[in-house]
Amino acid sequence: MSTIKLQDIIAYQIYPRSFQDSNGDGIGDIPGITSRLDYLHDLGINLLWVTPMYLSPGRDNGYDISDYRKIDPVFGTMKDFETLVEQASKLGIGIMMDMVLNHTSSQHQWFQQALTSRTNPYHNYYIWKTAPKGKLPNNWQSKFGGSVWEYVPKLDEYYLHLYGQEMPDLNWENPKVRADLFDAMRFWAKKGIAGFRLDVINNLSKDQRFPNDTFKSPKDDGRNYYTDGPRIHEFLRAINHEVLEPYHLISVGELSSTTIANTNLYTNPARKELSMGFTFHHMKVDYPNGKKWALGVNDLPTLKKVISTWQIGTSKGGGKLALFWTNHDQPRALARFLNDEEYRVQSAKALAILEFGLHGVPFIYQGEEIAMKDAYFTSINRYNDAESRNAYAILLDDGISQADALEILRQKSRDNSRLPMQWDDTPSHGFSSHTPWLRPEHVDTFSVKSDLENPESTLNFYRKLIRLRKTNNTLKMGQFELLSPEDKDVFAYLRLAETEDLLVIANFTAQVQKRHLKNGDYHTLISNYTNTSFTDNLLTMQPYEALILSRLK
Ligand code: GLC
Ligand code: CA
Repeated sequence: MSTIKLQDIIAYQIYPRSFQDSNGDGIGDIPGITSRLDYLHDLGINLLWVTPMYLSPGRDNGYDISDYRKIDPVFGTMKDFETLVEQASKLGIGIMMDMVLNHTSSQHQWFQQALTSRTNPYHNYYIWKTAPKGKLPNNWQSKFGGSVWEYVPKLDEYYLHLYGQEMPDLNWENPKVRADLFDAMRFWAKKGIAGFRLDVINNLSKDQRFPNDTFKSPKDDGRNYYTDGPRIHEFLRAINHEVLEPYHLISVGELSSTTIANTNLYTNPARKELSMGFTFHHMKVDYPNGKKWALGVNDLPTLKKVISTWQIGTSKGGGKLALFWTNHDQPRALARFLNDEEYRVQSAKALAILEFGLHGVPFIYQGEEIAMKDAYFTSINRYNDAESRNAYAILLDDGISQADALEILRQKSRDNSRLPMQWDDTPSHGFSSHTPWLRPEHVDTFSVKSDLENPESTLNFYRKLIRLRKTNNTLKMGQFELLSPEDKDVFAYLRLAETEDLLVIANFTAQVQKRHLKNGDYHTLISNYTNTSFTDNLLTMQPYEALILSRLK
């Protein structure tokens, strides 16, 4: 697996809690994943990112790790995990573990030790500050709302938590912390995994002055002092040298609020840091003034500009992007960018075409291949996610009405993509024989089963698209060029290579759109409609129609 070239990877993300339950407790687990490997293999994927399954109190569904070397019993046993790695590798599928190096759970024994006294050797594993009575060490805001500082009366000190208050940040300045984390990574590397997805990896290095931020915009909330921080590249090179390189591991960094320049430094192979990075600027086009918890719209010219700037910037800098439209932290992409009602299937295929047409490594998020929809929860009690629940409380505090706050959650909550996978048409869609941990409020009629039976389904389309991507070198390597940046209705770009040019084009509206193409002899490589109307270089596109055209040189 480790010999696979980056440009040949087709990755799939599993949120294990919601993928497949095997023992009837309503929570997805490792044997459940193993039982679906043939399905994933038939789909054509070769790398499986599984979000954290380590021992955890589950305050952030596994991103709060209490023991780096144990599998949480809710997901199964270490043997189950080893079986998964072994069975997957027989099918040519590598397992990518999700590693959280920025923080632990407050239940982790390191933190429990750290709490006992200022002189305990583990105290310095975390980040502590004092402040005069009634004051906080600084004004940084937690990503989950509120201050990043939590007071511990016994020590008369505050600890830093960029995320939930049960998720204290590790002190990467301490070499012992680094050494222990590298050991934990080696523990998994030795089990034959293919690589790591590295959680919020560009937040590891904090500016040691811990200065106040300006709050000039919602983005000036402290992140200026820990995003791509002073020692981050040194730390990543150490991770690479100590773990990634010796075990030939693929790595993808979650790069929160980063820049193109830094992304190139992280992912240019010559730098020996990471293989590729997830970046999020295209996920923020619908954040009004940078604010997540507010209703927003995706303006197409802005979206195109963001995508194009990153495509061109990373190509020039020799960097590598991991491509995605959604993940376990994002709402589903359908309603967000296109349509999840009348044109649900066309929209799903159009988004797939746009993603697989880009330069980078495509990732599919579970359920995307059957065009799953958002949760559409109508009551706060339905929500499970800590971030969403905090946001709801803060919105109400700010004087927003319950109805408006629910509408914002409906659009932005991470629970939208965390509903159980829809396998068939039995109760709970074949996910579990028990009530699922996160219960849908609507029942859909489509599933993997119905999609498998229908040649025109989203699922069968993904299979075709994956085959195309694996065999077409222009899709893998061609140079990116955006067309008509100001066009509000159509997203079109080129991939240019020596022998062929590809045109990737999608109608973002429910109306027919006609566009003239540059002269040439085109043929359709893939399309989400069966009959494309295309005469004299005039392309007539149906609602949400998308296609890839090839023009040989
Ligand atoms: C990443 C994860 C997210 C988690 C956060 C804190 O953003 O993807 O789910 O809440 O890190 O670990
Ligand atoms: Ca289970």
